[in-house]
Amino acid sequence: MKTNLRIDKVLEFIPTESTVADIGCDHGYVLIKGVIEGKISQGVGVDVSKGPLQQAISNLEEYKVQEKIEIRLGDGLKPINEGECDICVIGGMGGRLITNILEDNLEKSRSFKRLILQPMNSERILRKFLINNEWTIIEEEILILDRLYLYIVAEKGNMKVDNDFIYDIGPILSTKNSGGRDKYIQEKISKLQHILLNINKGKENDEHKVNEIEKLIEKWRSYLEN
Ligand SMILES: C[S@@+](CC[C@H](N)C(=O)[O-])C[C@H]1O[C@@H](n2cnc3c(N)ncnc32)[C@H](O)[C@@H]1O
Repeated sequence: MKTNLRIDKVLEFIPTESTVADIGCDHGYVLIKGVIEGKISQGVGVDVSKGPLQQAISNLEEYKVQEKIEIRLGDGLKPINEGECDICVIGGMGGRLITNILEDNLEKSRSFKRLILQPMNSERILRKFLINNEWTIIEEEILILDRLYLYIVAEKGNMKVDNDFIYDIGPILSTKNSGGRDKYIQEKISKLQHILLNINKGKENDEHKVNEIEKLIEKWRSYLEN
C-alpha cells in the first residue's frame, strides 16, 4: 500500500489490537492499513456515499482483509452498534461536521473509549463540544505536509478550561510546542490579518470588531513568543 503520512499519523494513536469504527471511511485505508499493521483486530467503516463504499469494498478485497473489516452505508454513527468498537476515528472533514456526527448520537459517541479526530477546520467548535461533553483532550499534534493537519485525541473524563482562548489554540498545544505549532499559529494570525485588511478596505469602520481581532492576534502572538 502506498505511504500516506496523513493516515499513518492516525494509526500512531491506535493501540495494538483495537476495535475501530472509521466514520467517513471513504477508501477504507485507515482500517486496511491498521489491520495489516496489527493495530486493528476488527474494524467497521461507515460512509454516507455509495461511491466511496464501493471503492472501500474493492480495496478490502485487494488487500484480503474482508474478514476483519465490515463496511456499512449510512449517516455518521447510526450504523454502529453501541459498544461494538473501542475507538472512533473521524478525519478529513470539517470540525463542524465532526461535531454534528458526535452530537447527533451523543449516547453512542460516549460508548467509545477514545476518539481520534482530524478536523480540516473549525477546531474551536470541536474542542468546545468535546470539553463540554465530558471528554478530556489527551493529545494534539500538527503534521506539516502539503498543508497543516491537526489531530485531536480525546478520552472520557472532565477537563477544566480556565480561559476561552484555550478552545482556539487547544489545551495540549497551549502547553506543548511540538513541531508544527508555530506554523499553525502563524497561519491563524495571517487569516486574522486578512480579515482586518478587508474590514479596513470596507466603507463601515467597525471599531469594535477591529479591536476584538487585534486582541485575538495578540493572544496568538503571545504563544509564538513563549
Ligand atoms: C474527505 S473524505 C475523508 C476520508 C477519510 N476519512 C480520510 O481522512 O481520508 C470525507 C468522507 O466522509 C464521508 N461523509 C461525509 N459526511 C458523512 C456522514 N455524515 N456520515 C458518514 N460519512 C460521511 C464522505 O462521503 C467522504 O467519503
